[in-house]
Amino acid sequence: MTELLGDMRRTHTCGELRETDTGRDVVLMGWVQRRRDHGGVIFIDLRDKEGITQIVFNPEHDPESHEKAQVLRSEFVIGAGGRVMARPRDMLNERMETGMIEVFVSDLKIFSHAETPVFQIEDRVEASESIRLQHRHLDLRRPQLQRNIIARHTASKAVREYLNARGFLDIETPFLTKSTPEGARDYLVPSRVNQGSFYALPQSPQLFKQILMISGFDRYYQIVRCFRDEDLRADRQPEFTQIDMELSFVGEEDIMEITEGLIKEVFMQVRGIDIDTPFERITYRESMDRFGLDRPDMRFGLELKDLSGIVKDAGFKVFADVVKKGGVVKALNAKGCAGFTRKEIDDLTAFAAIYRARGLAWIKVKDDGGWQSPIAKFFTDDEKDAIREYLEMESGDIVFFVADTIVVANEALGQLRNELARRLDLLDPDNYRFVWVTHFPLLEHDETDKRFKALHHPFTAPLDEDIEKLESHPLEVRSRAYDMVLNGTEIGGGSIRIHSAQLQERILKILGINENEAREKFGFLLNALASGTPPHGGLAFGFDRLVMLLCQEDSIRDVIAFPKTQKATCLLTDAPSQPGTAQLMELGIKISRSE
Ligand code: AMO
Ligand code: AMP
Repeated sequence: MTELLGDMRRTHTCGELRETDTGRDVVLMGWVQRRRDHGGVIFIDLRDKEGITQIVFNPEHDPESHEKAQVLRSEFVIGAGGRVMARPRDMLNERMETGMIEVFVSDLKIFSHAETPVFQIEDRVEASESIRLQHRHLDLRRPQLQRNIIARHTASKAVREYLNARGFLDIETPFLTKSTPEGARDYLVPSRVNQGSFYALPQSPQLFKQILMISGFDRYYQIVRCFRDEDLRADRQPEFTQIDMELSFVGEEDIMEITEGLIKEVFMQVRGIDIDTPFERITYRESMDRFGLDRPDMRFGLELKDLSGIVKDAGFKVFADVVKKGGVVKALNAKGCAGFTRKEIDDLTAFAAIYRARGLAWIKVKDDGGWQSPIAKFFTDDEKDAIREYLEMESGDIVFFVADTIVVANEALGQLRNELARRLDLLDPDNYRFVWVTHFPLLEHDETDKRFKALHHPFTAPLDEDIEKLESHPLEVRSRAYDMVLNGTEIGGGSIRIHSAQLQERILKILGINENEAREKFGFLLNALASGTPPHGGLAFGFDRLVMLLCQEDSIRDVIAFPKTQKATCLLTDAPSQPGTAQLMELGIKISRSE
């Protein structure tokens, strides 16, 4: 039998009572975390989102509630009225915030019974992630997830307060809209009223926020859901949240200053950590040269070096041929790691192969300074000296080489660098190293489609001094885009936008988007641009990623209340699901299966 609240009113949460409350009559409500029977006395750990309080059913104190408490099991929901007592000295629990007291119960209401939970509600959980996602209502009761979800709220509150205080307006933009070119596939929504037509869910509010600037709103923000149908990873979800911002009459410096301040405030509010500003800055070119990636983890060294010049005529054909064909030979010196076993080197070679490296050559420097290596024999003494000096090789080091196109060499060695740091335990989670990566190339060449694509999005402005190279050397044109990177994760990105209709049309032309197509796809933006446009720019943070790093989690799924799996399904609700025939008919849709 379960009970109604009746005249029972909760007076405190389960995390609140302290020794100073001794003697008070209180009412707590929550879930039974644990029950222990000690010689007739029943102890219950009562839990709510604020904490745990021990409540006591003593037959001598109150026989009636003691009798009633016999049925209590894990996850029953109860209300307990009683008196706060100081615990006996030998029963104190220093690890619990409420560990100095307990509540002697004289009034028990059982609000609901619970089936035995599929897993215990505690931080250490053995259940697989899919079981946890299927039973998310239980999973979300775990203290760790409760902490994360609360931290997420604190972060969003800090963001709103910071931006509200600086004149930003929170303006909503539509979800049922047209494709926004952020580089992923769209999620489409069929229109019933206009059969055969589809809305696209926004990959970001990019075009709308630019229009808001053109309309004179000056400073906009939104904590907003974005939708991208892309291959999922630990830091990617099909629907995710951005802190999206746009400002008028600003340059890069203004945006960087304001967003650094925002991040500083969030870290202070959520973690009590004082982050140093301004953040370090490096150009895209420097990031690629030194770290192989455009989202460098700056917590450790292991930097990459290009030794194409030194080995271009070497006897090792693999290296010399790659350089002759326009590729590069890059290397990284893993200081003090000459102890790697054959098996470890094979594992690292397999790891580099994931990133398309065709091999991973290596040289170990022995204690006597001599080399142990499958490729040492191909180099003359002069070449060896040059390599040794350039890579600062000393006894105990092992150096890894990748010879390939610049793209593959950077990606493979950049990822290898991060992997080595993981293996060598160089990733201090309490060290928050922010860096701005700037001056990204405006365009990249898509080998499959044989055309240029915008690296960021087509509305990003080129650097003024590079505009003249737009048609002659498009790949050399640098953009006014910037990413904020934290410990190897891109947490935000943005740019100064094009505010001239002519320049926008010129760039769309280079992207192979002809006038008709441009009119059809973003005619509304082009019209708006031609109507009087202020210089403007902005940035969007990946809010889930930011909270993941704040909470020191490895997966964004652990900071999202109802996340999707790697296969973009929701195990709690079983979405996506098949619509009924009637619903499909109404939409004018017929499913054809090609299996
Ligand atoms: P961008 O595409 O770089 O820029 O996205 C901004 C930030 O959003 C996060 N992010 C994601 N987080 C989780 N799951 C995903 N699938 C996902 N995709 C991106 C990243 C990224 O840095 N409109 C531009 C911003 C601008 O120019 O102002 C944009 O969306 O942390
Ligand atoms: P091989 O001559 O193919 O036996 O290769 C000798 C060594 O060079 C091995 O350690 C390979 O892993 C390495 N190797 C082969 N191709 C490459 C490459 N493209 N880049 C770096 N190392 C390579």
